[in-house]
Amino acid sequence: MARKIHTLGGYIHEYQRSILDPEAFWTQVADTFYWQKKWDKIVEWDFETPNINWFVNAKLNITENIFERFLYTKRNKPAIIWEPNDPNEPSITLTYWELYEKTCQFANALKANGVEKGDRVIIYMPMVPEAAIAMLACARIGAIHSVVFAGFSATSLADRINDCSAKMVLTSDGNFRGSKTIPVKKVVDEALENSSSIEKVIVLERTLTPVTMKPGRDIWWHEAIDGISSDNVAETMDSEDMLFILYTSGSTGKPKGVVHTCGGYMIYTYYTFKNVFQYSDDDIYWCTADIGWITGHSYIVYGPLLDGATTLMFEGIPTHPHPGRFWEIVDKYKVNQFYTAPTAIRALEAYGIDPVLPYKLDSLKVLGTVGEPINEEAWHWYHDHIGKGKCPIVDTWWQTETGSILISPLAGITPTKPAYATLPLPGVQPIIVDNDGKELKGNSVEGNLCIKFPWPSMLRTLYGDHDRCRQTYFSSFKGLYFTGDGVKRDEDGYYRILGRVDDVINVSGHRMGTAEVENAINEHPKVIESAVVGYPHPIKGQGIYAFAICDMSDRSEANLKNEIRVTVTNIIGPIAKPDLIQIVPGLPKTRSGKIMRRILRKIASGDSDNFGDTSTLLDPDVVDKIIADTDSAS
Ligand code: WTA
Repeated sequence: MARKIHTLGGYIHEYQRSILDPEAFWTQVADTFYWQKKWDKIVEWDFETPNINWFVNAKLNITENIFERFLYTKRNKPAIIWEPNDPNEPSITLTYWELYEKTCQFANALKANGVEKGDRVIIYMPMVPEAAIAMLACARIGAIHSVVFAGFSATSLADRINDCSAKMVLTSDGNFRGSKTIPVKKVVDEALENSSSIEKVIVLERTLTPVTMKPGRDIWWHEAIDGISSDNVAETMDSEDMLFILYTSGSTGKPKGVVHTCGGYMIYTYYTFKNVFQYSDDDIYWCTADIGWITGHSYIVYGPLLDGATTLMFEGIPTHPHPGRFWEIVDKYKVNQFYTAPTAIRALEAYGIDPVLPYKLDSLKVLGTVGEPINEEAWHWYHDHIGKGKCPIVDTWWQTETGSILISPLAGITPTKPAYATLPLPGVQPIIVDNDGKELKGNSVEGNLCIKFPWPSMLRTLYGDHDRCRQTYFSSFKGLYFTGDGVKRDEDGYYRILGRVDDVINVSGHRMGTAEVENAINEHPKVIESAVVGYPHPIKGQGIYAFAICDMSDRSEANLKNEIRVTVTNIIGPIAKPDLIQIVPGLPKTRSGKIMRRILRKIASGDSDNFGDTSTLLDPDVVDKIIADTDSAS
């Protein structure tokens, strides 16, 4: 096993080594893995093109490093523990051996249904072990998986299928989510009316929701694996072959297909999991994310399994059937590391501490957060009431594009500060620049967060659009990867993430591009134009505030707002539904027609003075009219 850091001195030493001699540092980490052929060079890169290659010319399969590497030592160790939505339904435990067999069998079933190395496979599934099996089976045969969060609408799903010309969809008859059953197969059917690349759909039976199976296209999962052997030889992958695509929102309308590749992603998800969470061999680790997001990819599936850990997967939601559900699960399995999002903490905090009191929570050693800045109050509630004051909180900063955690405390090692992601992990070289790209050196500075040296799990491209990748991440500041986040480095050199500096809103830890939401709102025939901004929301972190110019001739305001919400839900999904809509007579625009979002952001956050220079506005009066009517937002 690659060296695990145990002390603050150890961290400082490892960090220095990783910066001064990256080749030696990464060789030592990667040497503990199973490579079919080792690399010629550790890293080759330039951030102009950009062109990034890690473990150049090495050959491997990530699943051999999860299974074959551990089968002697961990065959009977639980790999996945699955807790269903309904607490009365039995849970499932899969050992490393069982997960291996099921992965290989499903890999063979994918092949039997025509999936080959390099093909794209969409996974649109609930949080069940089969979703992880599906990802691993794709990786086993070199198919590129693209998991789409099962809350996305048919239109969003079709966009993603079409963008990567996927060959197959893996789905289920329905999803259980709290007290609801969501008919997801129906969503897939609808999406496929607008897609032509899909040849087969494999459907897992989960909810017994009636579905229509299209002959020749749709197959039941249990039939697809019936009689299929679990002997499978892993496909040989180049270190830079694609492992998966994951779509994320950007500041323009179209979602971006972030591409991760095999070798580097494997090494850094493993390394960061091990060190940030300080996982020890008998621990039970639980991350509450959905596999539809990067956190689910890196810290439910790949990172933990590459470390031979036991990873818990939960199908349900924090408040069903009661708001103590998370804590009940922690006690039931004696969870040691618990990783969740600030929005979940705030939502549970809103129920008070009564739902927490019946549980001991004494197995917990480490708490983690991810996805958005955590406010100090939520941090303290988490620390005091869940961690009972004895569990370090790792506030982990990272992104879909970074693949793994980049800035975070190491649990119990790095002294923490509420709301601070603290220090960069070994291998990560952050730099803060002002808007002109000038480096802000030293401490007590605030600016744009960039990274100046590649790390193994960074994105390589955007699927089918390398130039968009260059423009989005590598063109704002020459020679640097730009994160899109603002950051402060305090007097101790600790990093505090301040949130997005671009037109992206972070709603309950989910990224939404304002343009994407506006495009959806504008689809309503009575909407003439709209502008969307984020505003502070007590539970979600940021809420969506939409200003819309509408034709009000034949609708009541309330009806129109409802219809707009339905339109957005249909086009993107419920997560993009505006929290507040204000019908406005006009929008603040520059003379060249650009909407001044800066002004709308201030209005939306209840700040109605000091707008800075408004002399460039086409019609300055419109600002006063919008402010006078903010009470109508609902
Ligand atoms: C934000 C999630 C503050 C940030 C892994 C980033 C955070 C975006 C933190 C990425 C954190 C993530 N503190 N902000 N600990 N973690 N963010 O791609 O704005 O869904 O750019 O990846 O979430 O969101 P994504």
